[in-house]
Amino acid sequence: MRPLPHNRPSPRAPAILFTPIVTFSILSLALVLLYKVDNFVSQTKTVVGHNLEPTPWHQFPPKSFDEETHHARSYKILQCSYLTCRYRKEDTVAERRRFPATSGSNQNIMCPEFFRSIYRDLQPWAASKISKVQLLEAQNYAAFRVLVVGGKLYVDLYYACVQSRAMFTIWSFLQLLRRYPGMVPDVDIMFDCMDKPTINRTEHHSMPLPLFRYCTTNEHFDIPFPDWSFWGWSEINIRAWHKEFPNIKRGSQTLPWNRKEPFAYWKGNPDVGSPIRTALLECNDTAMWGAQILRQDWGEQSKTGFKESKLSNQCNHKYKIYAEGYAWSVSLKYILACGSVALMISPQYQDFFSRGLIPHKNSWLVDAHDLCPSIKGAVDWGNKKPAEAEALGKRGQQLMENLNMDRVYDYMFHLISEYAKLQDFTPKLPSSAMEVCQESVLCYADDKQTAFLKESAASPSQSPPCTLAHPSKP
Ligand SMILES: *[C@@H]1O[C@H](CO)[C@@H](O)[C@H](O)[C@H]1NC(C)=O
Ligand SMILES: *[C@@H]1O[C@H](CO)[C@@H](O)[C@H](O)[C@H]1NC(C)=O
Repeated sequence: MRPLPHNRPSPRAPAILFTPIVTFSILSLALVLLYKVDNFVSQTKTVVGHNLEPTPWHQFPPKSFDEETHHARSYKILQCSYLTCRYRKEDTVAERRRFPATSGSNQNIMCPEFFRSIYRDLQPWAASKISKVQLLEAQNYAAFRVLVVGGKLYVDLYYACVQSRAMFTIWSFLQLLRRYPGMVPDVDIMFDCMDKPTINRTEHHSMPLPLFRYCTTNEHFDIPFPDWSFWGWSEINIRAWHKEFPNIKRGSQTLPWNRKEPFAYWKGNPDVGSPIRTALLECNDTAMWGAQILRQDWGEQSKTGFKESKLSNQCNHKYKIYAEGYAWSVSLKYILACGSVALMISPQYQDFFSRGLIPHKNSWLVDAHDLCPSIKGAVDWGNKKPAEAEALGKRGQQLMENLNMDRVYDYMFHLISEYAKLQDFTPKLPSSAMEVCQESVLCYADDKQTAFLKESAASPSQSPPCTLAHPSKP
């Protein structure tokens, strides 16, 4: 050992003490830091609902998570929320997609007529624009906030959503960005994932609040947006729309029209606090009312793997009844896909595409106040005029065939683009917003959700979005 230089005193005893003290301090500091980080991470809100209460306006049982320990949870959150997007493979913002001038059979495709509803939905802000104050006020009604800034997606989570709605809805935004890279404008959106519209037009007359959700009514300002089930509903085994529609259509062709049952069919859950569904039980008599009403037992079905409830096996009737539940029902698109005459019981709620329904053209209105006789009337009409009934059913099916996923993304694209034009501020990330990417959503998904999410992944479009008619053009 080299002797210490003379001019440096060698305080032997303190040096011996010094090392353990420093070590101890560093260790303690590390532990405190670790504890703090762990605490911070374990408090992080996630797309699957960690550290989030259910929405107060629509209660549901709190979520439980299957990580066994506090540490397992912290580790998962650290990995999925903090590391995954940062260290994913393609972190560069995709360049704006350019479409070759001559390519694209889609080049001049006009959007379906009902896309015009976008202007009607955004009309409350057409003159006044959307201010930051309005947006922040809408936060009181939102489960989460979605921002696109520089082509990346960020979320700020306020409440948990039932089942995997938040996960699949956030996934839908990510797929839109993937389909139209660099084309989705910077935007700041408040979103509620629960069923009932909340921004009453009368009450919010003086200050309309912009809030996205899955449905609206004529009495509400809520802005309808495609619901999660277009990307799949893993809990009840409903696959993504681009898989489900062709299956249902094929199922609808197993019987020719003249061999389909000549009465109206409904199968669902009557116990959702919907007076219409309760009333519908009274019409369960094929001879008297031309209707068969069956109870869907989801609990029982989930045990048998939903074999009985396969949607493609439910197209064997000439008439299918659509009855709203607690609010709108995702079942509408599957009912229409059957090509049966869709008997719509006085709908109050509208989702984004139901504005394409035209009574006596592609659907049939049934009067809720005269329910059983009204169903019977429709069935009698169609049984007397089978060709007309079949054609009407086909037009309903055609509406849904035209609404393929390309058009669903186009609707999202145009709605978001038109909404963004109305913002009178530049979207800036709030400090609590976190980036989300496909990998981070998949990181939280269980095996089943992973399969559903992957099946519904989009790829970059080969052609531009359909053309949205100008609001003033007829
Ligand atoms: C909207 O609010 C008004 C006034 O409070 C109320 O009378 C009306 O029933 C509400 N509408 C809906 C659809 O809740
Ligand atoms: C409707 O009637 C059928 C046949 O009578 C019966 O099997 C079915 O359980 C009834 N539906 C309900 C919801 O009670």
